[in-house]
Amino acid sequence: MIEINEFDKIIAANWKLNCSLDFLKHYFNKINSNDIKPGVCGIISPPLVYIQNCSLHLKSSSLFLGAQDCSLYNKGAYTGENSASMLKDNNCQFCIVGHSERRQIFGETSKDVKKKAENLINQGINPIICVGETLAEKNAGSTKNILYEQLSNSLPEKSSSNSIIIAYEPIWAIGSGLVPSLEEINDIHSYIKSDINKFKNYKILYGGSVKSSNVKEILNLENVDGVLVGGASLDPIEFTKILNAC
Ligand code: PGA
Repeated sequence: MIEINEFDKIIAANWKLNCSLDFLKHYFNKINSNDIKPGVCGIISPPLVYIQNCSLHLKSSSLFLGAQDCSLYNKGAYTGENSASMLKDNNCQFCIVGHSERRQIFGETSKDVKKKAENLINQGINPIICVGETLAEKNAGSTKNILYEQLSNSLPEKSSSNSIIIAYEPIWAIGSGLVPSLEEINDIHSYIKSDINKFKNYKILYGGSVKSSNVKEILNLENVDGVLVGGASLDPIEFTKILNAC
């Protein structure tokens, strides 16, 4: 398992349902991860069927490999699933769990997220656990309550700041081009770190419409330890800039 505390900043790419062999060829020709500063952990999370291909490409790179989800189950009659041990067999060191698209589209609950994170930890894979509020919840002033509920129920009992990463992703900011103000981001991260005492030393990533033009100011915030990047991570030149923004 990677020791999260060894890093200052974490820059994670989430490719979602976007990839092809042509895309990979182009991507790895263009991305430059040689200039990543020491202390920065760069992660690429492709769709699972391309994980081996990416693993070969990443051999000569300082980037780590991540998955976008794992099964609740470890083995058996669960058609279409991939277990944490299968991710391990395929060189995954990180795995995103509880992304809002999985919570909203696939009905994943915080209880499911917790079980998945437990499965991952048991296999020595670091979970990146996502939480975030909808626009309606933000407008109702309930962001902090929602986050408290999600965090309390999604993190396994034996989690530690060295094994688990938290990603705060306001749902209304994902893929929308909208980003909370810097004050809002810092305030929410500070709430998670300071008010919910348990998560004091955890690394907390911000996610939602991060791009090379806004990443520096977000990473400079006191309570932000990295970013989780969707759309902008699909462009290798753009993602190279984001990796080098620390
Ligand atoms: P976005 O996605 O960067 O395209 O907004 C972020 C995410 O969903 O992790």
